[in-house]
Amino acid sequence: MKEKYYITTPIYYPSGNLHIGHCYCTVAADAIARYKRLKGYDVMFLTGTDEHGQKIQDKAKAANVTPQEYVDNIVSGIKQLWKDLDISNDDFIRTTEERHMEVVQKIFRKLYEQGDIYKGEYEGKYCTPCESFWTDTQLVDGKCPDCGREVKLVKEESYFFKLSKYQDRLVKYLEEHPDFIQPESRKNEMINNFIKPGLEDLCVSRTTFDWGIPVDFDPKHVVYVWLDALTNYITALGYMTDNDEKFKKFWPADLHLVGKEIVRFHTIIWPIMLMALDLPLPKQVFGHGWLVINGGQKIGKSFGNYVPPQEYIEKYSLDAVRYFLLREVPFGSDGNFTEEALVNRSNADLANDLGNLLSRTVAMIEKYFAGEVPAIGKEGEYEKELKDTIQKAICEVENNMDKLEISKALESIWSIVTRANKYIDETTPWALAKDDSRKDELQTVMYYLAETLRIISVLLQPFLTRTPQKMWEQLGIHNHTAWEDAKTFGLLEVGTKVKKGENLFQRIDEVKVTVKEEEKDKEEKITIDYLDKVKLKVAKILEAEKVEGSDKLLKLKVSLKNEERQIVAGLQKYYKPEELVGKKVVIVANLKPAKLKGIESQGIVLAAGDGDIVKVLIVDDEVEEGELVH
Ligand code: MSP
Repeated sequence: MKEKYYITTPIYYPSGNLHIGHCYCTVAADAIARYKRLKGYDVMFLTGTDEHGQKIQDKAKAANVTPQEYVDNIVSGIKQLWKDLDISNDDFIRTTEERHMEVVQKIFRKLYEQGDIYKGEYEGKYCTPCESFWTDTQLVDGKCPDCGREVKLVKEESYFFKLSKYQDRLVKYLEEHPDFIQPESRKNEMINNFIKPGLEDLCVSRTTFDWGIPVDFDPKHVVYVWLDALTNYITALGYMTDNDEKFKKFWPADLHLVGKEIVRFHTIIWPIMLMALDLPLPKQVFGHGWLVINGGQKIGKSFGNYVPPQEYIEKYSLDAVRYFLLREVPFGSDGNFTEEALVNRSNADLANDLGNLLSRTVAMIEKYFAGEVPAIGKEGEYEKELKDTIQKAICEVENNMDKLEISKALESIWSIVTRANKYIDETTPWALAKDDSRKDELQTVMYYLAETLRIISVLLQPFLTRTPQKMWEQLGIHNHTAWEDAKTFGLLEVGTKVKKGENLFQRIDEVKVTVKEEEKDKEEKITIDYLDKVKLKVAKILEAEKVEGSDKLLKLKVSLKNEERQIVAGLQKYYKPEELVGKKVVIVANLKPAKLKGIESQGIVLAAGDGDIVKVLIVDDEVEEGELVH
């Protein structure tokens, strides 16, 4: 029977559209889930949305819609985003679903009945954006230590969860399970900063707003959003329902992947909830770092740097975005996201190293062997080295993935790509092709390259979702794409027909140019008679002066031979008035007059350029003023 593997991402707040930082965690979880599936595990990969709480209620109010309408709209966008990123989640849980809410109520009641939850009065500080309670000593300069925003004093009747009762058990558990919190540094932070100073009982209900799951035996209370949210990991499996096969099969989770700021909830509150429910604890909580922008800024609408992630996909391709997210930042550390870095990675690693390796290989097999992969001929030292590199890299990929070192796993795959490119330089197939007596060496080189590319394509599957398929199309591969098939060199069948296709990755400067070309194509086309309606005429500037009270406008007097006109033009920044006098320019002569700064303008002067350089269109002196431009 297959071994199970249960992996989760945090469930996201649908308080606004998600950004590239949120994609980082989900893409990483997706790569791990895909890897485990390829390794033969029966994988359950869960993600979802955390839809209750004061923050959402406030946002909905501001948008003048009901909280449910508010979240429905954003959640559909989140689901679409995961589709656009090829996220392979097996389920998507919303905390507003019945299957979740009913079970949260049951859990709350159970904990209450067994004495782990009790009623009291809460007075303390609350950060609404983080939905977190803080003690005075935890605040930094009186503000939320996580987000730096103002906290509110809340005082209300509340239910409390006895965290303190479980403190010693938790510390013992953490000591006995050194891998439970990863990376190591996060574990020390939790123990020293949060657990050792002493756990206070946690306020787990609120009464001052109602967008939450009501406590069924005391409905003026709604369940604290974190207690509600954390439970998703078991409600999605059918815990406490008649339909709990998934729960029996998949719980405990193998991996909760979370951002560093919410490790606290996952390694203190969540384990204690599970202990109180007498359930086994997840095997690991991994706290990854944050993606920051342009050298350290947080990402988000409130920071003025929000870009819908789909824009990056459209601009650079899905696999370039996935590759960047997975490759650039050592998993666990904070990482910097810039488009420039993405472009560099994509051009260097994907277009140059990988893309060229494939296109050169396919082109050479087409040229030298009529497109059919030849049999291996004579093998030598270079072949041995290439094979050794492959074997070593596969071990490294697996070791790195087991340690969740995703970026290093990709580095290992690229060690093969680099070695294969070097192999081409060493064996110089173009020279072998000129010498009939070395045909068997040329055959070897071509087979080795095609087979190496097959192995690379297999290994890329957890990370890049489109590229492997594209490689198979060009390499003519229809089988031997299972993970274990990467470990046997020589599975590619002799005679396989290769076929050159498009470049795997375009260099990104080219992409931008193409987009511009396409944009040009999209410009509305007009017919000649439309153009005829616009009367362009040559005009000679007779006088020019600044318009009073304006730092942009110049008032011009122009001559069209038989008439004189006054034109107000935004040219002050680009010309001294006297520079214009005497010039013959082009104007639109049949434009309806308009008033600028109270002065009538009878036409406009044509000019070109933007930014710092703008110049009027000058007409050759031989052309008479008043002439039509056609
Ligand atoms: N709803 C809670 C999680 C409940 S889990 C039971 C929550 N939601 S969130 O939408 O604010 O954040 C979800 C995840 O996105 C968190 O793990 C958070 O660390 C992660 N990220 C938010 N911004 C991020 C970056 N800039 N970079 C990387 N991850 C980021 O917290």
